[in-house]
Amino acid sequence: MVKLRCPKCGWESPSKTTFQCPTCAAVLEAVVEIGRLSKPQLAEIRQRTEQTVWRWFEFFPVEERSAIVSLGEGYTPLLQPSSLAARLGISRLYVKNDTVLPTGSLKDRSNTVGISKAKELGYKTAAVVSTGNAAASVAGYAAAAGLKSIVMVPEGTSPSKIVQAGAYGATVVVVKGDFEEAARLYKAALKEFGWYDCLSTNPYRNEGKKSYAYELFDQLSGRVPDWIIHPTAGGTGIYAMWKGYNELLTLGWVDRLPRLIAAQSEAAAPIVAAVHRGLSDIEPVVARDTVAESIQVGYPKSMGGRALEAIRASHGTAVALADDEILEAQSLLARLGGIFAEPAGAVSVAAAKKLQEQGIIAPGDLVVCTITGHGLKQPDAVKISDEELRPVPANLGALRKRLELKGK
Ligand SMILES: Cc1ncc(COP(=O)(O)O)c(C=O)c1O
Repeated sequence: MVKLRCPKCGWESPSKTTFQCPTCAAVLEAVVEIGRLSKPQLAEIRQRTEQTVWRWFEFFPVEERSAIVSLGEGYTPLLQPSSLAARLGISRLYVKNDTVLPTGSLKDRSNTVGISKAKELGYKTAAVVSTGNAAASVAGYAAAAGLKSIVMVPEGTSPSKIVQAGAYGATVVVVKGDFEEAARLYKAALKEFGWYDCLSTNPYRNEGKKSYAYELFDQLSGRVPDWIIHPTAGGTGIYAMWKGYNELLTLGWVDRLPRLIAAQSEAAAPIVAAVHRGLSDIEPVVARDTVAESIQVGYPKSMGGRALEAIRASHGTAVALADDEILEAQSLLARLGGIFAEPAGAVSVAAAKKLQEQGIIAPGDLVVCTITGHGLKQPDAVKISDEELRPVPANLGALRKRLELKGK
């Protein structure tokens, strides 16, 4: 039995398609009654070997297995890149490589759950407004579910993300203006056309990222990281990880909780500001341009407050990174770890480096950095010199010169 409940006043929605509290205007919380699972059921779940998030079916708000829309998402590699660990001075550094998710970003964790629920509820069209990754993900999962999709992105979004969403058959609408403007149009359109909302205003969708907690629990054989660092925009990831770990604590499967770190770009860091200024809620900021375009969100209205509470409750922190720090981390991750992430996806590594240098992360701490988006999402972020791009005549002499140029 899945319920939708207001986290502020406790109101329970009588309908499965009302996502907002009529009194508090808060996004409702999906309540999955894990406490009702019997001991044999829980034991059976733990023994499953399925390598997708759906191994944890009973922990998600989808009621019919026949509704599941899966592209094989989840159980992404948890790697220990030793050269990168040495370079950052963190001996127990792990990276959770979500660049290999089906559409190339962490959004697949939420959309496999969100779109499965759309199918269960009988919707025909799914929609989202996005900095790009959610657009591609919604489009991909909608395609797999046989639903139509409409995705809106602000102008300036990387063409590769737009192309990807279009390739899945979505109607892609590039909106004049920044993300906030695109979001305003999206909200009006949702009301007008009644599409299924795949934004973080959808409580079902938000549950998908709890899979981070379940997978890390499995992949670390029950050990709990000292820190989990997550590139953060809307705040859903941080909040859902917290919720997932708390479920594991309630079940008695873990005996403590990780400390959570939100990593943001300096150009759009409202959660960092709220953490450091001790605010009780998020104050909107005007997001500036940043290489980390996927996390360029100035006002994480629906889930930002919950992310803030999670960070505080976990005794975690939040850190803002400059573009040069983010690009350096992207390069270190690629050259020392073999993982090509988009800049936003590597912000967690930049944060690990900074917090280790500041002495907040100790050298022996067990640290997990989530790597949340593939480098090919935004290839222009990597600069290649004209010299390197110039074709070399097909003879060994020219090749030798070219190799000397690179210093090899
Ligand atoms: C690459 C990437 N990383 C991280 C995020 C952060 O998402 P959230 O804070 O909603 O978990 C996003 C999306 O906004 C993203 O596209």
